[in-house]
Amino acid sequence: METYLLDWLNLLVRWLHLITGIAWIGSSFYFVWLDNHLLPPNKPNEELQGEVWSVHGGGFYQAQKYRVAPQVMPSPLHWFKWEAYSTWISGTFLLALVYWYGAEIYLLDLSRADLSKAEAILIGAGGLLAGWIMYDLMCRSPLARNDRLLATAVTLLIAIAAYGFCQVFSGRGAFIHFGAMIGTIMVANVFFVIIPGQKLMVDSAMRGESPDPNPGLKAKQRSVHNTYLTLPVLFVMISNHYAFTYAGEYNWVNLLAIVLLGALIRVYFVSRHKANNKQLGTGAASVVPLLLAAGVLAGLIYAGIPALRTSPLSDSVSMDEIEAILQQHCVACHSAQPSQPGFTAPPLGVVFDTREEIKKQAQQIYQQSVVSKVMPIGNLTGMTDGERQKIASWIQSGNKLKTERSQ
Ligand code: HEC
Repeated sequence: METYLLDWLNLLVRWLHLITGIAWIGSSFYFVWLDNHLLPPNKPNEELQGEVWSVHGGGFYQAQKYRVAPQVMPSPLHWFKWEAYSTWISGTFLLALVYWYGAEIYLLDLSRADLSKAEAILIGAGGLLAGWIMYDLMCRSPLARNDRLLATAVTLLIAIAAYGFCQVFSGRGAFIHFGAMIGTIMVANVFFVIIPGQKLMVDSAMRGESPDPNPGLKAKQRSVHNTYLTLPVLFVMISNHYAFTYAGEYNWVNLLAIVLLGALIRVYFVSRHKANNKQLGTGAASVVPLLLAAGVLAGLIYAGIPALRTSPLSDSVSMDEIEAILQQHCVACHSAQPSQPGFTAPPLGVVFDTREEIKKQAQQIYQQSVVSKVMPIGNLTGMTDGERQKIASWIQSGNKLKTERSQ
């Protein structure tokens, strides 16, 4: 009963996280788009930096951007902040529910680091905090005077975090903490820098002073970082459902490739917005970032091709043996009625109760327990390499039988 309700909680918080995330990223994409499509105003107006016309949902809209601030502060003035905050709050709750509360299953990997549950949670939560503090210090240091230098330093920080998380956590746990760390940086940018900067600007405009451009410039720098971090974070969040991304010893390299891939795609789209703005004559967008992204993706796919195991496996394994191995190591979770605490239903509906079910899913069993070794999850049931080897032999002799028969 308790587990069942927790599963519901998990689903509802995930739903909320998705909705708020869509609202946040949707509005932030919209404003980047808006900025990049501004044209000089039709009627000359000193106060305006640009304007843009659009049609949507059966209506025409005209948005205008002011150079500094309007003479009279309009009311109501809409702010965009709750989307970001509620994404972070729901995301952190979900992280705690799945990965901290369920650390034994999803976070710990004793073959990588011999941590207790409490230590793992501390490292996870501490990592999110440390990531933000280090990043913020960099942005406040003299490095920030040069955008490229700062971006290089931030990339280095991200690389260290990717490597570090992957040394101490399971692949899934490492990926999600890495994504959460970047997400935290993005939300903290909104909370600690972008919104306070805007408050200062509004306040000085209300006092009739011309606003100090500095907070605006700082906010802009953070906002640019957020733009390029968006796609990587989204990829990391969904890659959690694809073991081929997070499994393996060099999974931190995959993480970095994903960051690079996402950032390059965003670079391309931002420059495309600008290029579409023909009246400003910025010319066509370079496809170089897109080609580079394709190269990174090809490398990522190639590196992940499951190693073709060619070791001679003459001793054929009997179906009885395979059934016994799965009974011992998998069926606690993968059964119509799981006995593993915390599971009310078989994960993803995958069940190995009968021989037929096992045979039908032979390839998936091989993928998960031999190639990526992500199952049994967290190796909770202590499956040995010898047992994995047996599954490999079983699959390969099965394949051989098939080809022999088809000849
Ligand atoms: C402690 C519980 C547990 C044990 C034991 C376990 N699994 Fe899983 N398994 C899971 C969970 C949880 C998922 C869902 C993972 C996800 O959400 O991506 C899963 C998913 C799977 C999937 C589907 C993967 C996909 O992405 O489609 C397969 C196949 C699988 N397990 C095979 C096995 C095999 C084979 C064993 C034994 C060698 C095993 N599992 C042992 C918990 C377990």
